[in-house]
Amino acid sequence: MPGPKPLIAGNWKMNGRLADAAKLAGAVAASVRALGPDGADVLVCPPFPHLGAVGQALSGSRVHLGAQDCHAEAGGAFTGDVAAEMLKDAGCSFVLVGHSERRALHAETDGVVQAKARAALRAGLTAIVCVGETLSERDGGRTLAVVAGQLAGSLPDDANAGNLVVAYEPVWAIGTGRTPTTAQVAEVHGAIRAGLSGRFKDGAKLRILYGGSVNALNAAELLAVADVDGALVGGASLRADTFETIIKAAPRR
Ligand code: PGA
Repeated sequence: MPGPKPLIAGNWKMNGRLADAAKLAGAVAASVRALGPDGADVLVCPPFPHLGAVGQALSGSRVHLGAQDCHAEAGGAFTGDVAAEMLKDAGCSFVLVGHSERRALHAETDGVVQAKARAALRAGLTAIVCVGETLSERDGGRTLAVVAGQLAGSLPDDANAGNLVVAYEPVWAIGTGRTPTTAQVAEVHGAIRAGLSGRFKDGAKLRILYGGSVNALNAAELLAVADVDGALVGGASLRADTFETIIKAAPRR
């Protein structure tokens, strides 16, 4: 059975100025337009203040707009936070939640991540929930248990393949240039698939992205692994040419 259509998502993190974001978005839109209607779904997640300009640069293209985080509540006294509903109004259709940088630097627990994912669904967004083990957890042989625990605690129960994506991102592979072997990726993605199939009616169709040092050279190999339904790309998504190579590397289905 062919898997779900791949999704190639760019996580721009806290990079660039407004003009850079608009230019990059325009270049991504142009390359996706040139690729035609087939091929992978494409998403870019700029910083909050750049959503409007990036949305404009993407208009008329099939590139989706997403944000990098949201708050669990729809509104209130939460200085500096952004509600999922506001992201929807800003033209987003996706939001990342539980990225390891949020978990580590903002002390986000599985419970917090689950509340944010629920908020995304409430607002009509697709939540991309990120999970992944640290190097010491991998070295200690705890990868599958850690990831299973994060999924159990972070995924909303009423989700489905239309509003939930899981991203497996080993913490030690993010921004380091190190990637797991294809066998290691296959092992974790297979375990995630089994867990999703046990928990969600359409778990076989839920997209599972791989993230962590995906680049133009390793993308084809990683995207060909069983149960890898796309990639979450950080550094390599900041250049339109590299990102285009990664998009083209996704299997057509
Ligand atoms: P990277 O980041 O591709 O730069 O390793 C991936 C991510 O953090 O989503």
